[in-house]
Amino acid sequence: MAVELDDIQGLVRHAYARLTEACFYVLRIADAQAARRWLSSAPVTSAALAAKSVREVLQVALTSDGLRALGVPQSLIEEFSSEFIGGMSADANRSRRLGDVGPNAPENWKWGGSTAPHMVVLLYAAPGRLTEWTQTVTGPEWTTAFSVEAVLPTTDMKGLEPFGFADGISQPELDWQLTLPSHDHTQPEYSNLIELGEFLLGYTNEYGRFTERPLLDPADDPHDQLAPAEDAPGKRDLGRNGSYLVLRQLRQDVQGFWRFHDTRANGDPAARKAMAEAMVGRTMAGVSLVEGAPTPSPDPGTKAGREQLNAFTYAGDPEGMRCPFGAHVRRANPRNGDLPDTSGNGGKVGLLSRLLTTLGFDAAALRGDLVASSRFHRMLRRGREYGQSLLPEAAIADKGETVETGLHFICLGANISRQFEFIQGAWITGAKFNGLAAERDPLVGDRQPLSDGSETDRFSLPQAEGAACQIAGLPQFVSVVGGAYFFMPSLRALRFLATLDHSNTSSPVGST
Ligand code: HEM
Repeated sequence: MAVELDDIQGLVRHAYARLTEACFYVLRIADAQAARRWLSSAPVTSAALAAKSVREVLQVALTSDGLRALGVPQSLIEEFSSEFIGGMSADANRSRRLGDVGPNAPENWKWGGSTAPHMVVLLYAAPGRLTEWTQTVTGPEWTTAFSVEAVLPTTDMKGLEPFGFADGISQPELDWQLTLPSHDHTQPEYSNLIELGEFLLGYTNEYGRFTERPLLDPADDPHDQLAPAEDAPGKRDLGRNGSYLVLRQLRQDVQGFWRFHDTRANGDPAARKAMAEAMVGRTMAGVSLVEGAPTPSPDPGTKAGREQLNAFTYAGDPEGMRCPFGAHVRRANPRNGDLPDTSGNGGKVGLLSRLLTTLGFDAAALRGDLVASSRFHRMLRRGREYGQSLLPEAAIADKGETVETGLHFICLGANISRQFEFIQGAWITGAKFNGLAAERDPLVGDRQPLSDGSETDRFSLPQAEGAACQIAGLPQFVSVVGGAYFFMPSLRALRFLATLDHSNTSSPVGST
């Protein structure tokens, strides 16, 4: 089957960077019937429309509590993944693995902490058009259907995140043309082209498998609204062309970040910038630290610029001398293949080294073995900034109150546990990442001590001679203040959910 772009919500394909105004509504369903009516007529934007041709976009996603509140039978909800059903904040064990402890603990969140929301509506618009677009979408039906739990406005920071670094540079390339073979061959080298099934349900993933999702008997889809399941003849696929959406509100302490670096650098602007860049793993302009500075510096705002800025792996920096192992981008995507690179020739794994590694004889491969293959742990990032842009100098100088600032982090994927939770838990929060003993992501990690009491508030910079230099006493720069796991259905699935036979559902819906 070909990919039905007109059935997929546009955010999977487009970041809508030209639509610089955006606002996200975190909702609870107050009246299920009105919510269903609103959903069945909501002008949800599909991926078939070119990003440059649209001036307004609306996207919708529901939590498992939201599906329940809408009247979806429990038996159907149970076929979604367990982490989606459980939710982001309901389980103490999950919170610990995600680093949602201490100042990040769900009990301190502004939304999503004690009760999960039901829905999120993402609105995007061209400059000057958001107010009108919001009015169009939030008519009388909306007011009856939903109670608003949180309004998340965003700020256009012109391609920078609030600390001042170019963002949105690296994204996986999705195999929209379905050119990749759909089986799990060992892939020795890093590739950015990823199976569609890693991001959309109903297609094969990097293991050559279909991710589990709700499949229905045709009798449960009497109006023939859903697509047939490709891997299960006779079944209808509620997941196909849908994706999971992770939303986290991450508050950034921009003043704390730049003041810390400024103090450690004794007020030297070049030194404080270099220290901050080592923690990110890219320069503020977006150039990878393993690359050296090309002139002119590629423009992260253009596709060609982003391609140039992403044409690297860490194979040529095996000791982490140029880009530290603990840097945010090296943790979040180590850019490795399935076999460790021991050839020293920039990521090309030779036949002999491949054989030695497979047989377990290659001692030099041990370090590479410490990090799992990248291709199983990618995610599409679609976050937007909020609050106030502040240049480093202003952040250091300004002693007054500032507006709360940060990132409404959004990522899409077909498997929350293998993608978002693995990256967040093992790579960002994991204190024993890639041979590092007791430190978490210097930019976004929490600073909770280990269970034996060892501190984790440090960042190692490997040195040519001797032990790594350590920057200690890192404050926590980023805190979690809200979040939830959502399912972003296909357009067909959304219509199906909105028109299910709800004879057993009472309305209005209470708290679930
Ligand atoms: C406020 C919090 C965060 C800030 C300020 C931040 C900042 C950045 C910056 C500046 C980049 C480099 C630009 C780019 O490649 O697009 C980046 C890349 C990235 N970040 Fe974050 N980030 C944050 C949170 C997170 C979280 C929570 C995750 C994952 C759970 C994450 C995953 C990634 C990934 C996967 C990349 C791309 C790495 C690559 O492919 O090279 N980030 N981030």
